Amino acid sequence: MRRCVCPGSFDPVTLGHLDVIHRAAAVFDEVIVAVVVNHSKRTAFTSDERRGFLCASIDEAALRSGRITVEIVDDGLLAEYCRRVGAHAIVKGLRSGTDYAYELPMAQMNRHLTGVETVFLPGAPGLTHVSSSMIKEVASLGGDVSAFVPPAVAGRLADMAAAHRKDPS
Ligand code: PNS
Repeated sequence: MRRCVCPGSFDPVTLGHLDVIHRAAAVFDEVIVAVVVNHSKRTAFTSDERRGFLCASIDEAALRSGRITVEIVDDGLLAEYCRRVGAHAIVKGLRSGTDYAYELPMAQMNRHLTGVETVFLPGAPGLTHVSSSMIKEVASLGGDVSAFVPPAVAGRLADMAAAHRKDPS
């Protein structure tokens, strides 16, 4: 049984994240999507909301069968978490050279810490410009981001933008 972890903030999940998660599930027997809580970083959505968006958007059959699970990782090192759950690899998507520069030292450090390998999947063409932070900015200014996020997220962002327009305080 080959198990991997797809970690991230997922604040919120985008179609780019979902593409990587489902492709990881085609390569590994089991995928744990780890919603990592960074206590020093302010997020737009709580960890429960971020987990909820993922559960509403990931292939239902894969969730039902347990081939993909979504967990909140609230504390500690990702590498230690991977060791605890018996993951053979961390899977991350790479959209660009900038992503590579950010991800490479983390991959090297994680391997140093517990020996866990990182596998990079190239970002899907058409989604390489999509990031959670850009999605939040565009949506907050009234832009339509529904082509880049799952419906659960698009609906929630549209509601938040409408509420903000009504009461900008
Ligand atoms: O989606 P993000 O914010 O780019 O994900 C980054 C994340 C959560 C994968 C990374 O910050 C992480 O692994 N955090 C867990 C704490 C940890 O192990 N830090 C050392 C990394 S070498």
